[in-house]
Amino acid sequence: MLVGFMGSGKSTVGPLVAQALGFAFRDMDVWIEARTGLSVSRIFAERGEGSFRSEELALALEIQGLPRLVVAAGGGAFAEPRTRAALSTGAFTAFLRADLATVLKRVPCGGGRPLAVGRERIEALFAERQPSYRLADFEVDAAAEPEAVAREIVDAFREEGAAAVRARG
Ligand code: S3P
Repeated sequence: MLVGFMGSGKSTVGPLVAQALGFAFRDMDVWIEARTGLSVSRIFAERGEGSFRSEELALALEIQGLPRLVVAAGGGAFAEPRTRAALSTGAFTAFLRADLATVLKRVPCGGGRPLAVGRERIEALFAERQPSYRLADFEVDAAAEPEAVAREIVDAFREEGAAAVRARG
């Protein structure tokens, strides 16, 4: 389970991790768009953020504990306690830790992400969510090249994954 802020590279690194492990890869945002038939932006605009968070929770509960799957969680999913609990159950969780400057470079304001609507908002969300992300099993510096980030996650999963999953049940 890959978690971290918008722009931390979860969707880029995820397929590399999945390929190395021989697992499937799914992106939660894409998955929710397929289930609802609406883009993430439209869900936010037409139904509100609460509806999107409910979709995230429902999906997290459905996929919890599924084996041989690498999932990129949306940037807000791991900050919601119930969704975080579901995403952590039976899974090894990796936090792609990007610094604010990297995030601001990678996430264009007004670039289609409904919550990336201005530097101040991004900065506030970024600060607010760090404690949640730090609850992940493993942290990796996401400013590095995607291949290097993926390699670190794969190594950590092989070394610590089973124990982390067992510890949580
Ligand atoms: C969100 C991040 C997005 C997407 C939605 C809300 C957030 O996912 O789930 O726009 O609350 O940070 P990415 O982290 O994949 O951009």
